Amino acid sequence: MRKVPDMGQVISFINMKGGVGKTTLVVNVAYALAYKHDKKVLLVDVDPQFNASTYLMKEKQYVKHMNSDTKHTIVDIFKPKYADRFSTVTGKKGKKKKHKASLSHYIFTVYENDGRLDLIPSELNLMIIQASERMTENKLRNFLIEKATQYDYILIDCPPTISIFTQAAILASDKYLVPIKPDPLSTIGLPLLEAWLEDFTDNAGITVACVGIVFCFVRSRTLQMQAVMEDLRKQRPDEVFDSHLGLSIRVSESVERHLPVFRYVPRLKWAGQILDITEEFLNRTSGD
Ligand SMILES: Nc1ncnc2c1ncn2[C@@H]1O[C@H](COP(=O)(O)OP(=O)(O)OP(=O)(O)O)[C@@H](O)[C@H]1O
Ligand SMILES: [Mg+2]
Repeated sequence: MRKVPDMGQVISFINMKGGVGKTTLVVNVAYALAYKHDKKVLLVDVDPQFNASTYLMKEKQYVKHMNSDTKHTIVDIFKPKYADRFSTVTGKKGKKKKHKASLSHYIFTVYENDGRLDLIPSELNLMIIQASERMTENKLRNFLIEKATQYDYILIDCPPTISIFTQAAILASDKYLVPIKPDPLSTIGLPLLEAWLEDFTDNAGITVACVGIVFCFVRSRTLQMQAVMEDLRKQRPDEVFDSHLGLSIRVSESVERHLPVFRYVPRLKWAGQILDITEEFLNRTSGD
């Protein structure tokens, strides 16, 4: 474990399989930690698809952040400093001075009361960051250690690929959590993810612990799904969360409303499921 004193836990939500509910889960858990448990939470979107960003930011807010001369995104964390100082087209000095920017230039504050949820948004431009740029994968970790010490939790939404961004997320993380869709084909990816994680963390000389596996998109009346869930629970009794998130149009609608499920449909069962998952998340991560 590479814990830095006074720094909150950094946890990546990761699965190489696309569309298993990673973004939905991380956004809702991050929000619930801040809203229901008064935690100070930073959500970092390292996916060029920027789905976590558009879940939490209305279109106008996102465009305003992108067009602002003083606001930054995840791209500015990964971008080499020289690219920041000079425009490659005119050779003139760039407007954004990243090297002097404090955390407040990177974040969009989603919710603030006793608890707090900040977001470092992503953008499509993230794809131009080159893996060959030396030490790019260490930049997120260094940034968080230097600038993000005031949070209880820093949660990272990973893309569904093993890329420089997933590597950067894992290098910055103390722990990881795996959202999974309980169908036979989705669970096949789990051993592969674990093999990659073991190899990558061994080579980096770090340990990243598993918080657990959370079933998403659960259809409780589907026998095949129930069988997959039972099997995995038997194989990994300590890892699988007791609570899960069911499949519902209400969940996908909450994305368009830019609200977490428990604020969009507070009385419906999916809200309760998110809150149960969050309680379990807190129990599983407390004491470290
Ligand atoms: N429990 C659910 N019920 C219904 N729809 C859901 C549920 N969870 C997520 N969705 C919808 O399914 C789609 C994929 O979900 P999400 O973006 O969370 O997955 P992901 O694993 O992050 O995908 P990617 O691999 O592309 O990053 C989204 O449109 C989302 O709104
Ligand atoms: Mg996603």
